Amino acid sequence: MTTNSPDIFQSRLNTVAAKMETVLAQILPEPAGPQSQVMDAMSYALLGGGKRLRPFLLIEAARMLGTQTTGTQNQGLWQAAAALECVHVYSLIHDDLPCMDDDNIRRGKPTLHKAYDEALAVLAGDALLTLAFEILSRPSIHTNADIRLKLISELAVNSGTHGMIGGQVIDIYANLSEQNETLITHLQALKTGALIHYSVIAGGRLAGATDDDLANLSIYADALGLAFQIRDDILDVEGDSCIMGKRTNKDAGLGKATFVSIYGLEGAKEKAHKLGVKAKNALKPYGEKADILCAAVDFVLNRQK
Ligand code: IPE
Ligand code: IPE
Ligand code: MG
Ligand code: MG
Ligand code: MG
Repeated sequence: MTTNSPDIFQSRLNTVAAKMETVLAQILPEPAGPQSQVMDAMSYALLGGGKRLRPFLLIEAARMLGTQTTGTQNQGLWQAAAALECVHVYSLIHDDLPCMDDDNIRRGKPTLHKAYDEALAVLAGDALLTLAFEILSRPSIHTNADIRLKLISELAVNSGTHGMIGGQVIDIYANLSEQNETLITHLQALKTGALIHYSVIAGGRLAGATDDDLANLSIYADALGLAFQIRDDILDVEGDSCIMGKRTNKDAGLGKATFVSIYGLEGAKEKAHKLGVKAKNALKPYGEKADILCAAVDFVLNRQK
């Protein structure tokens, strides 16, 4: 069995997901005081679900560049991955709100605004976002404060108006008659690609990546991020909502601009495949060390959830 076999990849993803669960539970604020329901809501959304793909990419990018990912000296890596997952989960909570995609199920359970209420969903999302930045400012993230500052500013950019938020705005307001490949590529690069880009680059930064490494990782992450969202859009049409833990067959009705909406299912699959090849090619300089990140490409292209 080679190190990029699906079995080895899946067991690594499971290991990272299990460890993330512990770290996420540790970074959550204890429910206390008259505001304790917001801590409960944060915990409800953050724990017990999700693929944890973004933390996985951060950890594995660092590992590819030679960083040990186990042992107490690398707690910072896991905390940075937890901060990233907080931002991702906040984006999901808000994405599901009635004023956005109006979804009732997320990660196989009622969405936060259904389990609690809309005000708490807005506020728990906000709290996860701000918690992420507080975590990244902690000295335990990295001894070099310049690296911590870089991680903070890059997360702000990638989750803000030129990142995830920008993409969500285009997603909500894109005019059906204006749908074309350029617009959709831009929208997806922002709404999903930016945080996936950050995942890989943050792992690189924590591992002391050179400029060449960062350039290679960027090409990999951007191709992977776009392929990831294309797969999400394909699964919206042909996925099983029970396996996915979220509603399917909703994008067309909402007039969402996706690769499926302009090229159909086969065209979208072809596009995702080409992006997968591009992502893997970017990591050729790392040889076998890139096996896990290359297996992540196959996982993204073939995932059922
Ligand atoms: C869902 O992301 C939202 C998109 C960006 C398409 P994931 O598919 O990574 O969701 P979880 O974290 O596994 O629940
Ligand atoms: C969500 O995209 C992207 C973000 C949360 C930023 P979608 O709206 O397609 O994600 P799902 O399908 O609800 O998970
Ligand atoms: Mg959405
Ligand atoms: Mg949605
Ligand atoms: Mg979707």
